[in-house]
Amino acid sequence: MKTKYTKAGKIAHFSTFIKRILCVFVVLIMLACSICGCTGEESGGSTQKKKEDKKIQIGMTFDSFVIERWQRDRDVFVSMAKELGAEVNIQNANGDISEQKKQIEYFIKKGMDVIVIVSIDSMALKANIQKAKDAGIKVIAYDRLISDSNVDFYISFDNEKVGEMMGQALVDNGLENGKVIMVCGPHSDNNVPMVGKGFKDVMKEHGNEIIDTFYADGWKAELASDYMDKNMSSVIDCDAIMCGNDDIASRVVTALSEKRLAGKKLVVGQDADLEACQRIVEGTQLMTVYKPIEKLAQAAAEIAVKMAKGEEITAAGGRTSTISDGTYEIPCLKIEPVSVTAENMDEVIIKSGFHLKEDVYLNVHDKTEED
Ligand code: BGC
Repeated sequence: MKTKYTKAGKIAHFSTFIKRILCVFVVLIMLACSICGCTGEESGGSTQKKKEDKKIQIGMTFDSFVIERWQRDRDVFVSMAKELGAEVNIQNANGDISEQKKQIEYFIKKGMDVIVIVSIDSMALKANIQKAKDAGIKVIAYDRLISDSNVDFYISFDNEKVGEMMGQALVDNGLENGKVIMVCGPHSDNNVPMVGKGFKDVMKEHGNEIIDTFYADGWKAELASDYMDKNMSSVIDCDAIMCGNDDIASRVVTALSEKRLAGKKLVVGQDADLEACQRIVEGTQLMTVYKPIEKLAQAAAEIAVKMAKGEEITAAGGRTSTISDGTYEIPCLKIEPVSVTAENMDEVIIKSGFHLKEDVYLNVHDKTEED
């Protein structure tokens, strides 16, 4: 017998029918989504984005790129990190500590996995680093140690050794019971006292007297020029000038040449900047310290990626140990520097590909013509 519907009954029946269809439709959509692995709001394009978002994110802040070496540090670090599947956000603080703090805050907000810092002022970043650590972000002090901040890792060269090598080069060149001036980088860079210690120890051992010490704020080489101009009588009196780096050595040698003293005072520096290598083969600078940036930057990128993955840190090509940041013991890797003079220039600098032979010997025509 056919059921007879009232008008109201018909409407109720129709709306139940529509509801059922809608339910089936919703279930089908959910099934399709679970097979594709997307949520209700995501399209195919954003699935791709989500995958990319999963890449390890590294934020790296540099003091500045004024000194030749740092561009190499950046380029090697970025390419190694990319090779290991990470993304790197590079920031340049232009020597301004408040800018560097802002950059660290930005990295924290962005939820980076690791923050790598070439600190401008080793005493000024404690609170920012604490904040990063509270947010579960790993922090690496790159090249320069950061004081009292309990960073997760410190990677650098053996800076005390850098100073010892500078001192040893002077001694090997006959400096005993002589007079030495130190034109250093700023106190705020932790490497400065480390290099200074290594250097002074060797000077002391050989009866050499440090007759004056100057600290160039912010590694500004022009301040070294001012120092030289204002202190020419001590400069004339000294036998050797230890320069905090090759950029400072550039200014020191220029000031010496203006007084016809270039090549007559022993000058040492560090970084193996191209111009310093040229001065060495030309005879106006005695030595520099070559620091294999490739090794440092590659190892740092590897460590950063391992940290982000929560893996154990095992470092090749250097000594893993710990170092005190003044309050905490920090795991660290120190890479060996190499002393460079005219004698081993080809062996160390040219063979490693750090600089090209034609660039280093640019102004030494005899040498290039011989080859
Ligand atoms: C580094 C040097 C560099 C200097 C200025 C120091 O901390 O050890 O290699 O020349 O900073 O950037």
